[in-house]
Amino acid sequence: MLATCLIGSLLVSSGIASASFGPTAWTDLKTTWSAAPFKGFIPVPTSLSDAKSRGWDEMLTCAKDSRVGYLYAENEDISSMPFYNSNGQIYGIILGMTDPGQSSEIPPFNSYTLSNGTAFWGVQAYFRDPAYVCSDTSVSTNEKIGDRLWFRVGDNFCLFLLGPNSFYEVPLVENSTTLDNDGWLMGGCFVGMGMHYWRYVSVDMDCNTVYPIFLLYTEQKLTAWGIAMAHDDRPYCTLFFFLLLFKRWEHPGGDSLKFFFQEGDMPTCLPNQGTLSTQHVYLGNPLWYNCLGDFQKIF
Ligand SMILES: *[C@@H]1O[C@H](CO)[C@@H](O)[C@H](O)[C@H]1NC(C)=O
Ligand SMILES: *[C@@H]1O[C@H](CO)[C@@H](O)[C@H](O)[C@H]1NC(C)=O
Repeated sequence: MLATCLIGSLLVSSGIASASFGPTAWTDLKTTWSAAPFKGFIPVPTSLSDAKSRGWDEMLTCAKDSRVGYLYAENEDISSMPFYNSNGQIYGIILGMTDPGQSSEIPPFNSYTLSNGTAFWGVQAYFRDPAYVCSDTSVSTNEKIGDRLWFRVGDNFCLFLLGPNSFYEVPLVENSTTLDNDGWLMGGCFVGMGMHYWRYVSVDMDCNTVYPIFLLYTEQKLTAWGIAMAHDDRPYCTLFFFLLLFKRWEHPGGDSLKFFFQEGDMPTCLPNQGTLSTQHVYLGNPLWYNCLGDFQKIF
């Protein structure tokens, strides 16, 4: 009964076009999970012309920072900033904040400076080849959003010091061998999110060392990801205006966090950390990320 309802509503809301590409295709870009209707799953413009027509503001250009292409934000909210190449294609997204806490001023966070001199920190994801973000070379348009998920994990100014590879290439297929080799541990599957993978976690770890990026798979395909900040000096504010301004951050906490881990795997420190700051990024339609195909892993 529940499955019938879910599938019925999926067909109505996603329409024939996107259904024909399959549930795990990268067809859209949204951020923020929410249990409350009409609060989460907030769209991010998937082309430069779309961003402009919706009144998003240009924060950086290739001339200022060749890492970010043309970076845009809505109402100066730096929490979810898409960037585009000179052809106007969506190229990636930066989840930013002015002060992530000193313990987060390391990769995968990178530092940036806006045109007006304001510095900020962000986790930067590329959906296409970073080498061409500021070039006129046109990149494959077969996939609407892109063909990869690469995180910038260091700047390549000095190859000798940082190594030639300053990106982490996320496995697009849920393969336990590959994920395990990269330090990822399978967590819980949650409706509207997918199957979580956490990196470098252990039951007795210190919450100040939580790796902020998590991955989400549906039917063994990477379909979403996010960041979760749990360290003591994380940005956290309960002021009402803050929540209005930065509507894309989520604030889970306490015992509810156990749903995101397999039983017995959650770091013991985590439910005692208070309210976390998290954000989900969806690469397709989150209505498909219902864990039905991952049922055997839920319990
Ligand atoms: C710089 O721009 C950002 C984003 O538009 C804004 O929030 C900030 O107040 C600006 N800083 C200055 C010094 O004008
Ligand atoms: C997972 O990756 C390993 C290592 O690349 C490979 O040998 C294996 O066949 C893959 N498993 C599946 C189910 O694709």
